[in-house]
Amino acid sequence: MLYGREREQERLRELLDAARDGSGGVLVVRGGPGIGKTALLDWAAGLDAALVLRGGGVEFEADLPFAGLSLLLRPVLGHLERLPAPQRAALAGAFGLGPAAAADRLLVGFGVLSLLAEAAGDGPVLCLVDDAQWLDSVSADALLFAARRLGGEGVALVLAARDGEFAAPGLAELRLSGLADADAARLIEDGLDPGVRHRILAEAQGNPLALIELPRVAGDEPAAAGGLSERLLAAFRGQVDGLAEATRAVLLVAAAEDTGDLGVVLRAAGAQVGDLRPAEQARLVEVSAAALRFRHPWCAPPCTTVRRSRSGSRCTSRSPPRCRGPRPPTGAPGTGPRPPPGPTTTSPRPSRAPPGRPASAAATARPRPPTSAPHS
Ligand SMILES: Nc1ncnc2c1ncn2[C@@H]1O[C@H](COP(=O)(O)OP(=O)(O)O)[C@@H](O)[C@H]1O
Ligand SMILES: [Mg+2]
Repeated sequence: MLYGREREQERLRELLDAARDGSGGVLVVRGGPGIGKTALLDWAAGLDAALVLRGGGVEFEADLPFAGLSLLLRPVLGHLERLPAPQRAALAGAFGLGPAAAADRLLVGFGVLSLLAEAAGDGPVLCLVDDAQWLDSVSADALLFAARRLGGEGVALVLAARDGEFAAPGLAELRLSGLADADAARLIEDGLDPGVRHRILAEAQGNPLALIELPRVAGDEPAAAGGLSERLLAAFRGQVDGLAEATRAVLLVAAAEDTGDLGVVLRAAGAQVGDLRPAEQARLVEVSAAALRFRHPWCAPPCTTVRRSRSGSRCTSRSPPRCRGPRPPTGAPGTGPRPPPGPTTTSPRPSRAPPGRPASAAATARPRPPTSAPHS
C-alpha cells in the first residue's frame, strides 16, 4: 500500500496514456535510498499496459556488458527476427543468441529501440528499470539512446536512479521527496510512545524506509552526531547482531554472493532454509521457493561485518574470501551526513561450511545469469 505519491502516480499514468495513444516517452525517477523508488515502480507494474517489462541495474553486474539489457529484454527477444539484419546481429551477438559481434553501440541502441517498438505493436509497453545507477555502461547507453527516440513508438520507459548518479541529461525527471506529514504519520507504526513517535517523524523527514525501520531502534537515543543514514544502518545492524550464528552465516554468504539463488546460497553456506527463518521474521530478507533477496539494499552491508568471537578475538580466516558484498551505501536519505565507512570487506568464513565445501559463495561466484531479478 502506497501512502501519498498521488502526484507521482498521476505522472506515471500520463506517461502510459501517452504510450497508449501511440506516442511514448521516458521519465527518470530520482531520490535517495529508501525514499520509495522501487515501491513506486512496483505500483506502476500494476498499470494497465499491454506488456510490462521489468529490469534494472545489479551492483555486481555493473561491469558485465549487456547484463542490464538482457534482464529487461528477455521477454521480447522473440521479436528479434523482425529487426533489420545489422541490428538483429548486434543484439543476438550481445545476448549470446548468435555469433559474437563487436559491440557497436549505435547498432545496439537502434536495436533496443526497434525491439521495443516491435513489442508495442500489440499495445502500449511499459518498461520499468530500477537502480539504473548500477546498469552496465553498454546497457545504460543503449537505453538512454532509445529513450530519446521513444516518441511515436508506443513505449513508456521509467528509469529509477539515485540522486547524483546515472546522468541522463535532457530527460524528464521526477524527484521523490519525503512523504507529507500526514502520509508519514499513517506509515509509521502504531503504538509508539508519543515522544518517540514525534522524534522519529522529525528524524525520518518523510523517508519511508526510515519511518518503517527507526521504530525498531526506538529505545535508542538518537545518535548525537549521526544523521539519518547512520541511524538506519544501525537499525539493520542491530537486527543482524541479534540473530543466531547459523543465520548470520547464511546472510554473510547471501550478501557476498548476490546471485539471489536460494539453492546456491544454502549450498555455499552449508545451511538449511530454516536457518533463514529468523532473518525473514526480522524482515531483513524475503525468501521464496528458489530466491532470496534482501528486503532493501541497505539490509545487506551489516551482514558482511566481521564479528568478534565469544572469546573476544576477531574472527578471521587464514585465507578469507574476497567479499564481493554490497559496497557501503552511498547517498544518505534526508540531509544527514554520509554514512560511516561501510563494513569491512574481509569477512569471516561462515562457520557452518562443511569441509570440502566452499565456505563462501565468493569462492564460487559466477556472473548472475540473465534471468535473475534486480535486488532492490
Ligand atoms: N509511499 C509509500 N507508502 C508506504 N510504504 C512505502 C512508500 N514508499 C516506500 N515504502 C516502503 O519503504 C521501504 C523503502 O522503499 P523503497 O521503494 O525500497 O526505496 P528505494 O527503492 O527508494 O530505496 C519499502 O519497504 C517500501 O515498501
Ligand atoms: Mg530501490
